[in-house]
Amino acid sequence: MGSLGNILCAVILIVLSFCYVDVARGQTTDPNEVNALKAIKGSLVDPMNNLKNWGSGDPCTSRWTGIFCDKIPSDPYLHVTEIQLFKTNLSGTLAPEVGLLSQLKTLDFMWNNLTGNIPKEVGNITTLKLITLNGNQLSGSLPDEIGYLVNLNRLQIDQNNISGPIPKSFANLTSIRHLHMNNNSLSGQIPSELSRLPALFHLLVDNNNLSGPLPPKLAETPSLKILQADNNNFSGSSIPAEYSNIPTLLKLSLRNCSLQGAVPDLSGIPEFGYLDLSWNQLKGSIPTNRLASNITTIDLSHNFLNGTIPSNFSGLPSLQFLSVQGNLLNGAVPPTIWSNITFTGNRTLVLDFQNNTLDTIPAAFEPPEAVTVLLYGNPVCTTSNASRAANLCQPTPLNEAPSGRGPQLSIICAPCPTDGNYEYNPSSPLPCLCAVPLGVGFRLKSPGISEFRPYKEAFEINLAHLLDLLVYQLYIERYIWEAGPRLNIHLKLFPSNTSLFNVSEVVQLRELLAGWQITLADVFGPYELLNFTLGYYADEFPTVVSTGLKKSALAGILAGTIVAAIAVSVVSTIFIMRKHTNRRTVSRRSLLSRFSVKVDGVKCFTFDEMAAATSDFNISAQVGQGGYGKVYKGNLADGTAVAIKRAHESSLQGSKEFCTEIELLSRLHHRNLVSLVGYCDEEDEQMLVYEFMPNGTLRDHLSAKTERPLSFGRRLHIALGAAKGILYLHTEADPPIFHRDVKASNILLDSKFVAKVADFGLSRLAPVPDVEGTLPAHISTVVKGTPGYLDPEYFLTHKLTERSDVYSLGVVFLELLTGMKPIQHGKNIVREVNIAYQSGDISGIIDSRMSPNPPECAMRFLSLAMKCCRDETDDRPYMADIVRELETIRSMLPEGEDLVSETTGTGSGALTKSMSTTSTTTGVLFVSSHTSGTGQANSGIPSGTVVPR
Ligand SMILES: *[C@@H]1O[C@H](CO)[C@@H](O)[C@H](O)[C@H]1NC(C)=O
Ligand SMILES: *[C@@H]1O[C@H](CO)[C@@H](O)[C@H](O)[C@H]1NC(C)=O
Ligand SMILES: *[C@@H]1O[C@H](CO)[C@@H](O)[C@H](O)[C@H]1NC(C)=O
Repeated sequence: MGSLGNILCAVILIVLSFCYVDVARGQTTDPNEVNALKAIKGSLVDPMNNLKNWGSGDPCTSRWTGIFCDKIPSDPYLHVTEIQLFKTNLSGTLAPEVGLLSQLKTLDFMWNNLTGNIPKEVGNITTLKLITLNGNQLSGSLPDEIGYLVNLNRLQIDQNNISGPIPKSFANLTSIRHLHMNNNSLSGQIPSELSRLPALFHLLVDNNNLSGPLPPKLAETPSLKILQADNNNFSGSSIPAEYSNIPTLLKLSLRNCSLQGAVPDLSGIPEFGYLDLSWNQLKGSIPTNRLASNITTIDLSHNFLNGTIPSNFSGLPSLQFLSVQGNLLNGAVPPTIWSNITFTGNRTLVLDFQNNTLDTIPAAFEPPEAVTVLLYGNPVCTTSNASRAANLCQPTPLNEAPSGRGPQLSIICAPCPTDGNYEYNPSSPLPCLCAVPLGVGFRLKSPGISEFRPYKEAFEINLAHLLDLLVYQLYIERYIWEAGPRLNIHLKLFPSNTSLFNVSEVVQLRELLAGWQITLADVFGPYELLNFTLGYYADEFPTVVSTGLKKSALAGILAGTIVAAIAVSVVSTIFIMRKHTNRRTVSRRSLLSRFSVKVDGVKCFTFDEMAAATSDFNISAQVGQGGYGKVYKGNLADGTAVAIKRAHESSLQGSKEFCTEIELLSRLHHRNLVSLVGYCDEEDEQMLVYEFMPNGTLRDHLSAKTERPLSFGRRLHIALGAAKGILYLHTEADPPIFHRDVKASNILLDSKFVAKVADFGLSRLAPVPDVEGTLPAHISTVVKGTPGYLDPEYFLTHKLTERSDVYSLGVVFLELLTGMKPIQHGKNIVREVNIAYQSGDISGIIDSRMSPNPPECAMRFLSLAMKCCRDETDDRPYMADIVRELETIRSMLPEGEDLVSETTGTGSGALTKSMSTTSTTTGVLFVSSHTSGTGQANSGIPSGTVVPR
């Protein structure tokens, strides 16, 4: 290994040990729990290597995938409170050491391929609230010890191969609301002791091998809403008469259970909504008392019921489905069942009387169009009056057609950016707004309805409300009924009025759904989460949401990186802790003391100084707001005006950006870059203090509302300043920096309208050569930046080059020339300008508030901008070419048009100097891919000429 390599390694080690020393002085995870996690990992099989960061550093402070922690007052250690490894492709077994996680609240391994037993040690974790192990291949029997979990709210072990009885000890689960154990091989009786559970709402035990009798005592369960036990074998048992008197019951589903006896009279249950007793051996006649008016579904098919169809089925306003198919019913087809139903919207009613012995049809039998009556297999279809019933006597499949695509857009929108992540929200009131949705696979496990269409809107309103979204943000892409019946719904959640969700929103949505912090309206029953597809966001927010995580943030950063980047990323992961408490500040306080070692020339302010400068962060001092937090104008004690960026309490990435910015900014000095004056890091607060830019952002000056539109000369000068600032980042910063979020609102203007590039929060440091001295031409990295400014190729390939900044700057140039926003009313500025250009008439798009004089200058500026915005990276000019071309254009301006000529001397002088130093530096240390171009740039004008590498 060459000496350069040795130096890099040494620096990495120093930086790493530096970090961990500090963490060790702060809090770390309870050592028992660290060992437990190691044991858990040891018995899991992880083919996708999703847990690759388990083992490096500390579980809580190094933020192991899927691990969330909390601090307990006066406890020296941090504790693991959640394991969330939902759908992570894990197999192997769950180690008994899980029982050592004494503060665990959530144990979530759903939708993996775990085998083996549920270890009895789980019963030691009395803090557990949520166990979601559904959708694995767990076997063995349920340990009695689970009964000790007095805080358990939800036990989901459905869709495994668990056998043996339901332990009687479950009677001690005094907090349990949801017992979902369907689709296993459980045997024995349903213990009558479950009736002691005060909070039990949903008991789902369908698709097991349970045997009878059904315990009558279950009727005493104080809160029972749903009892679903289909596909078991309670042979010989009848439905206890007591079940007619469960006041809270909404749904009773006992399909195919070998039940005998009579149909119970459930008319006394006030809100009863769903009854399925099909495929049993029930005898006798149908009770004649009317069921509750909430009933949507009555399925008594495939029994041995006789007598007539009673008139009490009439006048049920919510009825969707009534089936008595396959019984021994006789008499007349009832004529008025629909009499109390209002058929508006999509309301329909299916009445399935097939395969009975009905022999008459009333004279005036005229069901409305929304009512389907099925009479096939009755004598009424073959006797004399068959002709009247002919169209009702066809055998008909009953399945509700799955929904197709949603409403089609009536307006033709231009296609969204071609990266495959953006799409239109079909329900949005703003047509043609391209946004990146989250995909949510959702299943109603035991719905109280049998047709979804009439309830779709109510569902959308209900769920949107629970997720704190506007109704149009939630779009049902498709739904389909599955065996159960269960309703599988695929949702897309769109951001409101903007293109992207921010981190907090993504985290919140995931927590609400995957933490079962929401409860749907009773009629929809319990839900299960099948997936939560981050898509684009998986790359964007890898450290906060582990599910769907393909590339670990840390590994991604380490892969294409340099020493400083390692330091920053390792440090930043330290304090990404659980979001909803302020405990995430655990080791933040000491962080900057470490940085301050390296950061010189910037001042450390106290919180009190910051508060004094902004009149206690008075709203009148607020001048802006970004993803990071609020921006205030402040006056320091010595009278200096500053801009103070105050990190959002909930901005999860704030910490990372904070470190990145300080580290970078302290080393950068250029007249076209906003300079950092200092920072503040006290307790829960992080702030960055910048020189104040009295003329605000370039975006403000281009908006339609601006009172004094910028002249052409001024615009050209701003373009040149911004280009020089970015050229400095590309060539002079050591190591080179790609800005990655160049946009008009990141270009600030000082009192003389000199452009200064701001916000290096998204910067990623540029590549270094490996030991052989060869340089990767790009860094493969996660996509960041702002829609409308994003290099299409970068977006597609995730390959970052310095000419991604060129693209974004080109968009800024187009804004300068046209006054348009990058994306406005669904129109993309690059496309609009190209269309106008090709039509040969650009006069319509040039901002009429300025008069470019001479007009050739505007043409030349426009053609430069368009070259910057070419789709193909290699077709774009280099930043040095751009600076040179802009200087040429400016030299063509007549005297007086160039309003800011007083600044030119220093600018270009510095640039020339910087170029020569670059060439020398590169030979020794960092070969940046564009430097070979800079030398030839003189001959490369007019711009856009591709300089060969
Ligand atoms: C449950 O088991 C039944 C019967 O084997 C099957 O039809 C159904 O698809 C299963 N449901 C789920 C959600 O696995
Ligand atoms: C029963 O119907 C009433 C009136 O429509 C409604 O307010 C109530 O929410 C329904 N109950 C359930 C459990 O759906
Ligand atoms: C995220 O968006 C929500 C609502 O859109 C907003 O209230 C919140 O302040 C944003 N958070 C951050 C960190 O930008």
